[in-house]
Order: sequence, then C-alpha cells, then structure tokens
Amino acid sequence: MEARILIIEDDPVSQKLHQKVIEAAGHQVAMAEDGLQGLMLAKEQDFDLVISDVMMPNMNGYETCQRLRENPKTAQIPILLLTALNNLESKIKGFEAGADDYLSKPYEPDELVARVNVLLRRKTAPVEPRRTLEKTGKVVGVFSLRGGAGVTSIAANLATGLAQLWNKETALVDLALTAGQAALMLNLPLRNTWADLAHMDTGEIDQEVLSQTLRSHPSGVHILSAPRRVEESELIDAAKVSRVLEILQTSYDYIVLDLPHNFAETTLAGLDVAEEILVVLAPELASVRSTAMALEVFETLNYSLDSTHLILNWVFERQGLSKADIEAGLNYAIDTTIPFSSDKFVRAINFGSPPVLEAPESPLGVIFEDLAFQVSKDDHKKQRPEPPTDAWKRLAKRMRKRR
Ligand SMILES: Nc1ncnc2c1ncn2[C@@H]1O[C@H](COP(=O)(O)OP(=O)(O)OP(=O)(O)O)[C@@H](O)[C@H]1O
Ligand SMILES: [Mg+2]
Repeated sequence: MEARILIIEDDPVSQKLHQKVIEAAGHQVAMAEDGLQGLMLAKEQDFDLVISDVMMPNMNGYETCQRLRENPKTAQIPILLLTALNNLESKIKGFEAGADDYLSKPYEPDELVARVNVLLRRKTAPVEPRRTLEKTGKVVGVFSLRGGAGVTSIAANLATGLAQLWNKETALVDLALTAGQAALMLNLPLRNTWADLAHMDTGEIDQEVLSQTLRSHPSGVHILSAPRRVEESELIDAAKVSRVLEILQTSYDYIVLDLPHNFAETTLAGLDVAEEILVVLAPELASVRSTAMALEVFETLNYSLDSTHLILNWVFERQGLSKADIEAGLNYAIDTTIPFSSDKFVRAINFGSPPVLEAPESPLGVIFEDLAFQVSKDDHKKQRPEPPTDAWKRLAKRMRKRR
C-alpha cells in the first residue's frame, strides 16, 4: 500500500537517506526542514505517517509531536521519532510527547521500513471498530475440576457439531495452557498456538493477529491451540485471555472453551464470559465430589446455575455410580449422558476425527449434535439455516420423530 509520509529532518544528508529508503519501500515523501515547517505541512495536507528527527532548530521533535497530537486534524497520525539520541530517558520523553515508535540512528534501512509498515498497518487496522464491533459470538465453556473426565473430547466434538450444524465461524480455544490437547484431537499441527501471542502486548492483539494464529480444521472449526512449552504458557495472563475472547466474539459465532481442571485466573477469564457452561463428570465418587465443589464455586462467583449443565460421561465401561444417585448426591439434574464408547474416542485421539464428524448418525454422533443444538444461540435455533446443512436436516428429522 502506498502511503504519504512526512519526514521532518534538518540535516540534508539524513534527509536524502530517509527519503531514499522510504521511496524504495513504495511510499511518497514530503520533506520539512524543521518542526515548525512540519506542523504547517501537516495542517495543510493529509499524511498517513510522520517521521521526525528530535534535535532540530526552531522546534524540536518532542514539541512537534505534542503539537501534532493537540490538533484534531493530526492527532491520529502515527509518529515515528528517528534520532541519534539513544538512551532510555529520551525514548520515554518521546513516548510521553505522543510518539508511537522510536528508532535510533544509525538504523538499518530494513528496520525503518518494517517499523513504518507496522505503524501504517495499525492505522489502517480498524481502531474504532475494536470498541464498536458487536460482540455477538456465544461462548460455551466445557469444564471439570477433575482430569480425565472427557472435557477435551467433548469440547472438540461440540465445536465440530456447531460448525457442522450452522455452517458458521466456530472457534475452539484451548485454555488448558500447560498441557492442552485440543489440537491433537483434531489432528492439527502445533504450528501456530497461544505461544504466538505470549510475547505480544495485550493491546497489540487484534482480529488480524488472531486470524493468523487460529488454525482451521476441515470441519469448519478454527482452533487456538495450547503452547508446546510450559514457559510460553506462563506468559499468558488473564488480561490476555479476556482480550482474545473479546475479539473472537466479534468475529466468530461460537467460541468453545476447552478449560483446564483448576480455577486459575486464566480459567476464570474464560468462565466469566461463558454464556453456557458444561460441567463434565465421570460416574465415580471423586468426580462427583469435585463437581460439587465446582458448583459451589460457581455459586460464589454468581454464575447462573440455569446456564450450567451437567454432562455425565462414562469414561469407563462398568460399575459406575447411577445417574439417579449422582443427581441425588449433587441435588442437580444431569442434562446429557454420554455412554462408554472406547473405540470411537480412541479413534478420535489417534486420527483426529471426532465422532460427530466421522459418524454423525452413530449414537455418539447424535448425542453431540443434540448437545450442539442445545447450546446454540436462540436466534439460530428458531430458524432453518439457509441452505440447510446436513447436520440440521438430521436434527430436524429427529425432532419430528420425537414429538
Ligand atoms: N465416553 C467415553 N468413552 C470412552 N472413553 C472416553 C469417553 N470420553 C472420554 N474418553 C477417553 O478418556 C480419556 C480422557 O478424555 P479427555 O482427554 O477428553 O479428558 P480431559 O478431561 O480433557 O482430560 P485431561 O485431564 O487430559 O485434560 C481419553 O483417552 C478419551 O479418549
Ligand atoms: Mg483436556
């Protein structure tokens, strides 16, 4: 993209140098010899970016920055300060004056071009929509306080079911940051993961960054995978998780969370925005106990129990507690029961094909399709998708039969 760039620089040699680099990068240059002249030009013409020296006669770079920021016409133009002063103090002074970036001389031409392009991209990237874009995506969390209950399996199948049902943008977010395996279940390589976001400032994360970080699966699910290394997961805090979920809600219809077995800050950041929470438990005492604890915590946090659903998952074959006993013990109704079905689940792990995709008409496929419908948005449930998806047709047929 060709941009109009104003360079403010008093030294003739530097002028030539900057101009050559910027023009070689495909941009147009206007030159001002000091801050005062720069301000006048910026008032008269439209620029996409200002590059300014700091030490100049008449008006220095800091003052120029400040004045540009004060005038509504120029307040939003990205400013890059370019200077021989290379110490922290002058950098801070520059940022305080309103500069967006700072590069010390001598610089590598490539670095200048890279920084210019980043600033230009930030300018064209919708800054305002970030605040005004509607957060219409529905977040559904899948959770258990105890490991091995089937959270990841259910989250992966649920996300796939939603994508198949509505043919809408669906994200699966692995929040089991230290050892998440959601990508594994969909057989996706860990090329892009949360780690890509670990070293970014939270404020730098936007739709574009996320669209490059989520990997897509043929089912229509886009997954944000857990990092490969623990050190990377430690760099992800609750603010970052909230930010990511907020942005995903503006671009995806459904966001399914594969949550870890704890109440860490990052887990709570996910639970806080979940409109619906599926609590998974296995038919054994320890699992029932941890479910009771989880429900208690939910109550303390004021999560609506109406949107908290229990999923009983038979991860082992026999001799489990009965549904009735569990419901009595918890004083809470179980919404869905998933039968033991080792071959299908094992296949899902080894081949990356969730039952809901591979065998949608199998008992397990039906359960996940129904579950996906159950947590769908109300306005989706009311209408036939156009064109109707195969999953929706199957579901409609089942509903007619059940009536
Ligand atoms: N209904 C089921 N029938 C048989 N096996 C199941 C069932 N549900 C899950 N499993 C198996 O149980 C194991 C644990 O499942 P999963 O990884 O989904 O659970 P999790 O709660 O995410 O566990 P983790 O603690 O590893 O995060 C997997 O090997 C999975 O294939
Ligand atoms: Mg898991």
